Amino acid sequence: MNVKVRPQLLSLKAYTPGKSSEEVQREYNLEKIVKLASNENPYGTSPLVKEAISLNNFAIYPDGASTALRKEVAEYTGVKEDQLIFSSGLDELIEIISKALLDENFNTVMASGTFPQYRHNAVIQNAEIREVPLKNGRHDLPAMAKQIDDKTQVVWICNPNNPTGTYVDDKELEQFLQSIPSHVLVVMDEAYYEYVTAEDYPETIPLLDQYDNLMVLRTFSKAFGLASFRVGYGIGAASFIQQLEVVRLPFNTSVLAQNAALAALGDLEFVEKSVSLNAIELQKYYEFCKQHQIDYYPSQGNFIFISIPGKESAEVFQYLLERGYTVRPFPNGVRITVGTKEENEELFELIEKIVLIAH
Ligand SMILES: Cc1ncc(COP(=O)(O)O)c(C=O)c1O
Repeated sequence: MNVKVRPQLLSLKAYTPGKSSEEVQREYNLEKIVKLASNENPYGTSPLVKEAISLNNFAIYPDGASTALRKEVAEYTGVKEDQLIFSSGLDELIEIISKALLDENFNTVMASGTFPQYRHNAVIQNAEIREVPLKNGRHDLPAMAKQIDDKTQVVWICNPNNPTGTYVDDKELEQFLQSIPSHVLVVMDEAYYEYVTAEDYPETIPLLDQYDNLMVLRTFSKAFGLASFRVGYGIGAASFIQQLEVVRLPFNTSVLAQNAALAALGDLEFVEKSVSLNAIELQKYYEFCKQHQIDYYPSQGNFIFISIPGKESAEVFQYLLERGYTVRPFPNGVRITVGTKEENEELFELIEKIVLIAH
């Protein structure tokens, strides 16, 4: 094969989804598989979504401007319609922003130990990547600010951070925004926004009036339970959003995705219920971890990062997998999506056994 991709792609791996639940179930002869690896909503989706997703004409393109959804999201978030851009999940919006802002002449600043798509897209764009280690699992904003220079185009702040669940608070963020030059786009990835309970978590939408270099990312994949449909959105200065629109594919969100998101917005009670159950279950995780001397970060998302002293995360992952629970392993711990009460109780029993082996 003489066709060659650009050299920077050679250092990247394509996303590998891992074994399907069916494969794992067959391999280990399991009655069921509980997927707690990708931070989906364990309570599913609002029943209104099912009613809303019938199509009567498959041959017609979707509304490329997402007009109806735009109106509802503008109302839900309290912004103007022209401040919004829609995407096929936030994965695509991260790609759009990277394409619009990054190439070999620029750099981008992010945490190391955060959502991997910021880095992945920066590599594709051949931009210089400046990664700043997390400090106690949290973004170190003063250290990130120090990495910024006149070639910096975008800073990524994952808030709450995936995989640690930690957050940047309102004071830290304001100090950071005041301290950096206005040519730098600050992306606040708030994929888990609806789950947040901390009182000093920054409300970023009001800050958009003050900082036109700020952009907020939200998704329907998590608390709204629509991960399979792929709908996310960004909020920013209207003039900047207009420029990003140039990069967006014309029909990037399908008719079904737009209709599903609209229906989900019509059932905020479902979201509230999911969020309050998540908070209750997270508390149980904290108590469980304390009781068993398991290290963890308090989380603002629907997941928790834990580390069992004396146990390799790959071993913990494999042990749970063979017993029907899929979680996400990292070098220094595992990230577990907070499941339903029953799922969590079963998982606690399994983890208790690992702890006993470890001690
Ligand atoms: C922090 C963060 N950002 C973005 C995404 C991508 O979400 P989406 O499903 O909207 O593409 C995820 C998904 O796990 C995430 O955790």
